[in-house]
Amino acid sequence: MTMTVEGHLRALPKVELHCHVEGAARASTIAELARRNGVALPVEDPEELFEFEDLNQFLDVYGVICRSLVTVDDFRRITYEALEDAVAAGVRYREMFVSPAFVMGFGVPLATVWEGVAQGLADAHADLPVRCRMVLDVDKPSGPAAAMELVAFAAEQDRDVLVGIGADSVERGIDHAAFAPVFAAAADAGLHRTCHAGEDGPAANIRTAIEQLGVERVDHGFRLLDDPELTRRVVDEGIALTSCPLSNVLIARVVPDVGHHPFIEQRRQGVRATLNSDDPGMTRTDVTDDFLAVHRELGADLHELEQVVLDAVDASFAPDDEKVALRSELGAEFARLRDMGSPLVDAAPVGASATGERR
Ligand code: ADE
Ligand code: ZN
Repeated sequence: MTMTVEGHLRALPKVELHCHVEGAARASTIAELARRNGVALPVEDPEELFEFEDLNQFLDVYGVICRSLVTVDDFRRITYEALEDAVAAGVRYREMFVSPAFVMGFGVPLATVWEGVAQGLADAHADLPVRCRMVLDVDKPSGPAAAMELVAFAAEQDRDVLVGIGADSVERGIDHAAFAPVFAAAADAGLHRTCHAGEDGPAANIRTAIEQLGVERVDHGFRLLDDPELTRRVVDEGIALTSCPLSNVLIARVVPDVGHHPFIEQRRQGVRATLNSDDPGMTRTDVTDDFLAVHRELGADLHELEQVVLDAVDASFAPDDEKVALRSELGAEFARLRDMGSPLVDAAPVGASATGERR
């Protein structure tokens, strides 16, 4: 039996560490929930809103989408459906962001958001072959005081469901260092820490996230290579990037196509850059599309792509015993897929892998 490249990469079991539950919502679900909740969207079909000129414009649309999410069941449903779609993309383990500031701004209590998300996770764990933990993202423009309240909430939740704190939304004009006490409080509470940085902002924001916020991972880190000294530090300390190449093309628009993305060059320099979908509902992609794009446009070969998945296991906030089990499950699955006659096996690299020359 033979298998296509696309079939192989879709079936490849994956670990995804950067995906926003609101941005993963299906357009059809958003339209239905808006109708049911009596929320007027500016268009009939939310997909008509999904063309962005930059990150700030994307976040304006994000706010519009979030208006449709009101009840516990709305959050349960988008969480469950996000994981159904993850399974279709081959995801076996995911850490997913929820960013409650948007809906809290529309009067939805944090407890409603969290109850729905937790139910969605529990239902998905009962029905689907995927495991997921949540990271609560603070909204940078809402400032450190609001962020501190989210950390206090996170500290009280089941640590096996809510593993950590992140920070998202716009990057330009944000004083990242002002969040240092928030991240220190998260560390004191035993929460893991990550932060969006260097997406459409400079490498200096990545430095601040690492040096002043003490993050264990950097979300995006697109601009890392601009600072060679920081790059060395990221390599030496094994700090992973949760890269989102297609998002960077379609949302922040910091590169015209994946062929110009620094992902492979970052890996060639020893950075543990992983592959993630970011907002798959709003970009109408999934993480398999990112794997396909870095294969086709950056020449990543199968070995490299399997290694990306294993790096994501290491960079995850899962307990060590779960990482060991996951690595062995993935290794067996990689081998099984390699036996299915895929052209990716033993194929000459399309361009170059991280261990070879870049095109
Ligand atoms: N929230 C959802 N997606 C985001 C992104 N790509 N950057 C910053 N904040 C976000
Ligand atoms: Zn993101």
